Amino acid sequence: MPIRMNPHGKSPPAAGSAPRALAARILDAVLHRGRSLRAELAAALPTLDDIRDRALVEAICFAALRQRARYDAALAAWLAKPLAARDRPLRALLHAGFAQLDPLALPAHAAVAATVEAARALGRTHQAGLVNALLRRAQREGLPAADPAAAWPDWLRMRLQAEWPDDIEAIVAASAAPAPLWLRVNRRQGDRDAYAARLEEAGIEAAAPEGLADALRLAEAVPVAALPGFAEGAVSVQDGAAQQVADVLAPGPGGRVLDACAAPGGKAAHLLERDPSLRLTALDVDAARLGRVHETLDRLGLAADARLQVADAAAPAQWWNGDRFDAILLDAPCSATGIVRRQPDVLLHRRARDVEALVALQARVLDALWPTLAPGGVLVYATCSILRDENARQVAAFLARTPDARVEDPGDRYGRGDGPGRQRLPGDGGMDGFFLARLRRVA
Ligand SMILES: C[S@@+](CC[C@H](N)C(=O)[O-])C[C@H]1O[C@@H](n2cnc3c(N)ncnc32)[C@H](O)[C@@H]1O
Repeated sequence: MPIRMNPHGKSPPAAGSAPRALAARILDAVLHRGRSLRAELAAALPTLDDIRDRALVEAICFAALRQRARYDAALAAWLAKPLAARDRPLRALLHAGFAQLDPLALPAHAAVAATVEAARALGRTHQAGLVNALLRRAQREGLPAADPAAAWPDWLRMRLQAEWPDDIEAIVAASAAPAPLWLRVNRRQGDRDAYAARLEEAGIEAAAPEGLADALRLAEAVPVAALPGFAEGAVSVQDGAAQQVADVLAPGPGGRVLDACAAPGGKAAHLLERDPSLRLTALDVDAARLGRVHETLDRLGLAADARLQVADAAAPAQWWNGDRFDAILLDAPCSATGIVRRQPDVLLHRRARDVEALVALQARVLDALWPTLAPGGVLVYATCSILRDENARQVAAFLARTPDARVEDPGDRYGRGDGPGRQRLPGDGGMDGFFLARLRRVA
């Protein structure tokens, strides 16, 4: 399917070599130097003036990382010998070139010419002919099929095989597909139907999924700047799975609420949009990320409604004044294995030992927060992981060592039952992989 560079599809895709060269540089850093895609994009995109060039770079990088297994299969089949380590930047550029042909389906002649030109811009003039030949071959013959599971590290594939044997194929396929764009309508500015009407007026097609009162799902992704009222806070981008949390936590009016790991602030904002009477404290251990919570709340007109604090949720002695919370959200740091479609570099960078460290951190934060919850109060534990150590087993272990904790099942509409919680696998209902469990503190 061709990518759309702007919502109305009126402008042709940018034609230059600069965005191709930049995409190749970013891919080289992510593929070969352990860099995070998100951080590289955040640093690189502002260097481009044209919004279409930025969209192109982003589209190439995401597509290339999602299709990595196919592109490597093509290079293995078409090159006489594997690329040497010094040719890693060339691999990155070729992946960027393949992505433009399939799946982005850009006009092939211009895409190939601009990518060959980018080889020169990257100091690879001596390989420009090879780039041209390989991209022309891809255009002529098409890129070979490959098992997308080949892009998953062995340790993770084995865990999925053990934990989700009937679903592994669907998980891998959904993780390689672009995520749909989900919106959350800001109730303080109007309801979902009213915003759906604004979208329709703007020519943007959206569906209103059942069971998520504030959610709209777009038929085709558009840049946020094209969303009516985005800058004024009428709407936010947030996956459907993340929007479940406000329903499951459901703090009562005027409740004291803690969002213990709040950045960038999507779930905190949703809670505040729904109920201006909440007294919400938002923590994050990372000061720069907590700044993003402020930006999120500011755009939505909610900045005055929350108290933000840079703090380690696992050390309440440093930030808790002794007043217990009626509701706590622990949206825990996790492996992000449920959102590979949004963060394809998770497959390159995540190690088994990272998961062990995350599981220990999650347990420590859970134990530390529990005494800050009022008897009768509710804590929702959530992750965007699909690994049981971080999810069902984590919560089961917590229940076993915490006599005043009881689990409450929020019901089928929040995903499949898995131990004490509800799990969505990537693509379930069009949503991200996500786990949540609702824990009540009994007297
Ligand atoms: C999954 S993200 C939270 C997403 C957020 N709830 C939202 O909806 O936008 C996890 C966050 O936990 C933060 N974090 C990690 N360890 C922490 C700790 N010990 N205390 C507080 N925050 C922590 C990370 O900086 C990260 O921003």
